[in-house]
Amino acid sequence: MWLFAFFAIGILANTINVTQAFDYKCNLTAKGSPKFPESFSFGVSTAAYQIEGAWNEDGKGESIWDHFTHNFPEMMDDRSNGDVAADSYHRFDQDLAALKELKVTHYRFSISWPRIYPTGDISSKNQKGIDYYNGVIDKLLANGIQPLVTMFHYDLPIEIQKLGGFANPLIINMFVTYAIELFENFGDRVKLWNTFNEPFDYCKPGYADANYPPQVHAPGVADYLCMDHSLKAHAATYRTYRAKFYEKQRGKIGLTLSSRFFFSHTNNAEDISRGMQFNLGFLGHPIWSNTGGYPKAMVETIQSNSLKEGRISSRLPRLDGKWKEIVKGAADFLGLNYYTSRYIRRASKPMGESPSWERDYDSDAYPDETWVRGKPEWLYCVPEGLEGILKYIRDEFGNPEVIITENGWSDDGDPEDDDRIYFIKAHMQAVLNAANDGCNVTGYTVWSLIDNFEWQKGYTHKFGLYAVNMTSPNKERSPRKSAKYYRNVIETKTLPSIV
Ligand code: NOJ
Repeated sequence: MWLFAFFAIGILANTINVTQAFDYKCNLTAKGSPKFPESFSFGVSTAAYQIEGAWNEDGKGESIWDHFTHNFPEMMDDRSNGDVAADSYHRFDQDLAALKELKVTHYRFSISWPRIYPTGDISSKNQKGIDYYNGVIDKLLANGIQPLVTMFHYDLPIEIQKLGGFANPLIINMFVTYAIELFENFGDRVKLWNTFNEPFDYCKPGYADANYPPQVHAPGVADYLCMDHSLKAHAATYRTYRAKFYEKQRGKIGLTLSSRFFFSHTNNAEDISRGMQFNLGFLGHPIWSNTGGYPKAMVETIQSNSLKEGRISSRLPRLDGKWKEIVKGAADFLGLNYYTSRYIRRASKPMGESPSWERDYDSDAYPDETWVRGKPEWLYCVPEGLEGILKYIRDEFGNPEVIITENGWSDDGDPEDDDRIYFIKAHMQAVLNAANDGCNVTGYTVWSLIDNFEWQKGYTHKFGLYAVNMTSPNKERSPRKSAKYYRNVIETKTLPSIV
């Protein structure tokens, strides 16, 4: 009995602490106007493999994620896959109802390459896939919701992988051909395009760490090739659009990068700069810096480490001459996925294996012990990092237009998700503070509209403003408390206090 009371009090105390911790810690002080600009766009985001299901229907080809989840189920925490997911392929109307209820002004979703080209190649064009996305786009527009379309969110056609995927420069032309198909079919109505979602986050786990498909383990080599080819495919797509489609379609094209911001306990500016160069700067510097090309810290370190390893040239591909010019300035906006930050210091011992990005980076990035953590081991609430990164982009990248294409919090799925509300409010405050301070940030997007397949975490981590009843045949979506809060933000264009 006493033992029970002891545990009950312990659990209660813990609950109170969590709420108080959020109230107190996942918070940011307001600076300047309390209102978002009239033209500011509020949205939510999803991705094809994570929500669509219908993995082999209507002519869709196999993607590397289909192959990976079917052949290596043990790589997912719950051995799950995206075969059915939230079944959005058949239930887009349920997603649309949620979007309308939220009153979002834009919806970011991705197109599945193997639904359009089942083998990855133009010769396999699949009209049913095109029809599906036409339906999605038309319904969004009929409801006043602007589509922000990601062309690639990890689900590469397996047939392209058989040729080496992103390690083969052929991907550049293959991607441009696929992008042209999208412009021709959807560009009359889609005015906001994202070429790639988070290249670092498919290149590193996919080509260095081997824990994402295609499970290549060639750190410091294949991940760099993958980044380089993604960057060039992005830039070639951008140039093609400007030359052939822009005059008629007048859309904008961006690249979505993920990055943390870095702080230093010793105020060491060089350490912070190294953190930014090896993360946001890897693909951000070539496009948005004054000088173009890969960031100096990466070029110098990787060249020097490569020579020490007995190589005759750098493992970091060259980005000079013609390509440097094609890439520089090749974007209308920077899509930023921001989730968390770290403190940084130069490493005191060799990091990672040799060679690898970690060894080249030579830095130790660690969380502050006072930060509140979410369900994933990597996710701490650090809203000041978002304000910092936006100001970094303003100062180092010439203040380009920035759309926050993802920001979100995952938990066990409580419908009364105060933790997520605190997180969203604090991060939107960061965006507002940055906008009030001259940053050209024009939109904010919550990840995610609905619970979905969270890659290796399967369905165990919930990011949705809406819960999805995964065990019911109808996969009902139901709003969490955070959905109501976000709608209130959108309606008032302010950040109401949390009740
Ligand atoms: C970023 C990725 O784009 C998305 O697919 C993923 O679900 C979220 N991060 C949360 O981890």
